[in-house]
Amino acid sequence: MALLHRLAASSAYRCAPGISSILVRRASTMAPKLRDPSLLKKDVCYVNGAWVAAKSGKTFEVTDPATGEVITTCPEFTTSDTESAITAAADAFKTFRNLTGRERAKLLRKWYDLAVENTEDIAQLITWENGKPLADARGEAAYAANFFEWFSEEAPRTYGDVIPASVPGNRVWTTKEPVGVCGLITPWNFPAAMITRKIGPALAAGCTVVCKAPAETPLTALALAELAHRAGIPKGVVNIVTTNDNTIAIGEQLTTNPTIKKVSFTGSTNVGKLLMKQSSSTLKKLSLELGGNSPFIVFDDADIDAAVAGAVASKFRSSGQTCVCANRIYVQEGIYEDFVAKFVEKVKAFKIGNGFAEGVTHGPLIHDRAIGKVDHHVQDAIKKGAKLLVGGQKLPDVGSNFYDMTVLRDMNADMAIASEETFGPVAGLFKFKTEAEVVKLANASEVGLAGYFYARDLERVHRVAEALEVGMIGINTGIISDPVSPFGGVKESGFGREGSKYGIAEYQITKMMTYGGMGKPLQS
Ligand code: SIN
Repeated sequence: MALLHRLAASSAYRCAPGISSILVRRASTMAPKLRDPSLLKKDVCYVNGAWVAAKSGKTFEVTDPATGEVITTCPEFTTSDTESAITAAADAFKTFRNLTGRERAKLLRKWYDLAVENTEDIAQLITWENGKPLADARGEAAYAANFFEWFSEEAPRTYGDVIPASVPGNRVWTTKEPVGVCGLITPWNFPAAMITRKIGPALAAGCTVVCKAPAETPLTALALAELAHRAGIPKGVVNIVTTNDNTIAIGEQLTTNPTIKKVSFTGSTNVGKLLMKQSSSTLKKLSLELGGNSPFIVFDDADIDAAVAGAVASKFRSSGQTCVCANRIYVQEGIYEDFVAKFVEKVKAFKIGNGFAEGVTHGPLIHDRAIGKVDHHVQDAIKKGAKLLVGGQKLPDVGSNFYDMTVLRDMNADMAIASEETFGPVAGLFKFKTEAEVVKLANASEVGLAGYFYARDLERVHRVAEALEVGMIGINTGIISDPVSPFGGVKESGFGREGSKYGIAEYQITKMMTYGGMGKPLQS
């Protein structure tokens, strides 16, 4: 109640009566004041250690998704502009690959220290261009920096093997070498962390990179490039390019240019398939972190309050715009009603608005295409028999990119949410009877990124964890992301792992050396 009174005093807008008690407020302009304004770049990309405009002089607008206002403009790079970045990365690779692991570690550590010193400005930029609430953006800025820290620690510790040979007199060993110039394509939902999760291990391995930042959120990427420069990362090692109109052409360039030896992409399964096809022309090493459709299962023996908290955290993190958000929430019949009531209560307490506003828990979606998909999923579910408990509507009075946090019950397998990733703030609650039934439902998906379940029975915990066809599982937790953990999927969620001790291997090749005639006896 206290929350409602506080909001009522601030030109509050009430959603449709009987549906939601969430109060929201018009998202008015709240441009941040950066402590270091030089982190906000205008009309320049970072290529070969310098800030450069597009040769054509063309730019595109970057807008605040909360207000629709233009923040700044960025260069509209073409493939010709990007070619300069690829050449710079190739030149830099010749020397960067020869630094010792310890030297690369020191550079990454310096970059980490600067990212930590500038956490607040990075967070402000994230909220401004992505819309997520400032508290979440601060969390992301710290999460992002931690990838630099983690991989600075991995850089000096990439060991090869000594292998006992089958042939007498042979000696076999392996070394790890950097794969070469890497093309990185990152998404808008984590403007900082998806950049550092790729560049951190690439540099730790001794690779150089050309990173195409997302058109929606290029500013955080460019700010990180400024910090790379200050950290003394040698010129050409990190190159950040921006484009809006030429996204497809530059994607094709990064996946077909023979100088690029590896591509890492985070985004949709459809785009991932296209990039993989294109990459086949030069057989590039690939890491693809693609779409998910995470099942979130709550068994009768679970701690219900913990499961509700975990489901809310997993489903509504970044307003549902993460690849690992719960997409299908399955609750066992014995606790279904209890779970639904507690879940709804939590969602009703959310406050939607401009991510810079005090107390706002959820910001806008990234653009109107996202709103369209979310609304389609909600209407489809209602048409097929789901009952709307909270939300279920666009919030034009708050801003054109806002959608109410939504809860639907009585979901079934015919509804679009059962088979498609919503990537938005809609929680569909399904009821199930048995463990076998729910595991079958959970696995009935072409993708397999993350899955979650809450249970206390130890045998069940192991059985279900082993049965779920996903790359990552949260057991009695709704949040699994951590630089120490291998992040990645199975099936059409792609392949390759980011973060963790496995992350660096994606940027290395294993070279084997066999030496013959080594086994001669000692001459006395
Ligand atoms: C993603 O949505 O791709 C990343 C989410 C995360 O790192 O937690």
